[in-house]
Amino acid sequence: MRNFVFHNPTKYVFGKDTVKKIGEEIASFDSKKVLLVAGGGSIKKNGVYDTVVDSLKKHGIQWVELWGVRPNPVLSKVREGIEIAKKENVDGVLAVGGGSVIDTAKTIAHGLFIDNVWDMFVDSSKVPDSALPIYVVLTISATGSEMNGGAVITNEETGQKWAFSSPLSYPKVSIVDPTVQFSLPKKQTANGGSDALSHILEAYITGKSTDTTVYYDEGLMRSIIDNIDTLMVDPRNYEARASFAWAATLALNGISSKGLAGDWLSHAIEHAISAIYPDVAHGSGLAVVHPAVLMYRRKHNPEILKRWAQQVWGENTIEGGIERLRAKYKEWGLPISLKELGVKPSDWQSIIDKTVELGWGDLWEPITPQVVEEILRYADI
Ligand code: NZQ
Ligand code: ZN
Repeated sequence: MRNFVFHNPTKYVFGKDTVKKIGEEIASFDSKKVLLVAGGGSIKKNGVYDTVVDSLKKHGIQWVELWGVRPNPVLSKVREGIEIAKKENVDGVLAVGGGSVIDTAKTIAHGLFIDNVWDMFVDSSKVPDSALPIYVVLTISATGSEMNGGAVITNEETGQKWAFSSPLSYPKVSIVDPTVQFSLPKKQTANGGSDALSHILEAYITGKSTDTTVYYDEGLMRSIIDNIDTLMVDPRNYEARASFAWAATLALNGISSKGLAGDWLSHAIEHAISAIYPDVAHGSGLAVVHPAVLMYRRKHNPEILKRWAQQVWGENTIEGGIERLRAKYKEWGLPISLKELGVKPSDWQSIIDKTVELGWGDLWEPITPQVVEEILRYADI
């Protein structure tokens, strides 16, 4: 096991009827006026917005609103939010949505304390040591952003989908009411399942059979697969929604990687793809890329991949486990090949260049264009 520190400061409020607590929670952290950040309107349709503003009013919290954060959120929307936050003199940022909305909120919260907010994505030493407090009402379980310190934003001008992290990016409080996810389209639920599995696998495949975290991760992966299976036929099943929501948080709140290293090559390639194709949902991109990365990683950690195939899939070979993963994604309605994702062969070079530029995934060897190309070939089925 590697040395580690585990410190997660987010207050996590979970369960039915918890959205109405947001005003009280924000008041307890002493914010008086927040910037409410939201996406394309799902929270108006499912009633979450009304519950949030009722709660804000009840607890005397003022707010202003930033709408229109899109999946694969963009820097121009962040800049718009920073301007509103400055003009309106807010003292907190409230994200009501999924990973895209939360990541936009995290970036705005830091962006008030740096001249050019993109600088902190390019150079981690520029991440400011001040930020507005961040509050979250989660509406889709997938990224774990509700309980971690990371954020991913696409700079539309440079074509880079990059990340920053900061201890101040952990939300002060995250409210996770699984019932608000009853309104999710099946495809979005499946995207969340694929993303959560990927978060666990990125660390798991660097582990050893004796690692406690490896045992823990196997339980988490099996729980995700079983609960998403249930949600594919019964989207309003509370127990499955709740179990998956908690599992997706645990998949990237730090615990599932403690004592292990991290690969993150699948995420690097997916971020390159969705930087070029902004309509590719992160979870769908990963459903194509991650099995291909596992094929490539067979040579690097065969012992753990064999164990994964046995413990998670009941298969005796690594290839058998990877085939089962692909079949599961297909059953959930996710794409499993670059063609299904709509990736044109003429864009391979750009995907390769962006992945190499990002530089994630070099645990076992430097990430060269040849490495990425070999993985894309495994995804070209
Ligand atoms: O925009 P609205 O209308 O709200 O619709 C959203 C959006 O279209 C919809 N949705 C959300 N909750 C809903 C709902 N529809 C009906 N009912 C609800 N309850 O779902 C769509 C997807 O939302 P989005 O926030 O984009 O999804 P997700 O949570 O998967 O976030 C993906 C983004 O997060 C990044 C990804 O790269 C991508 O940009 N990631 C962030 C990470 C982090 N901060 O830790 C780690 C991840 O690896 C990932 O990179
Ligand atoms: Zn992810």
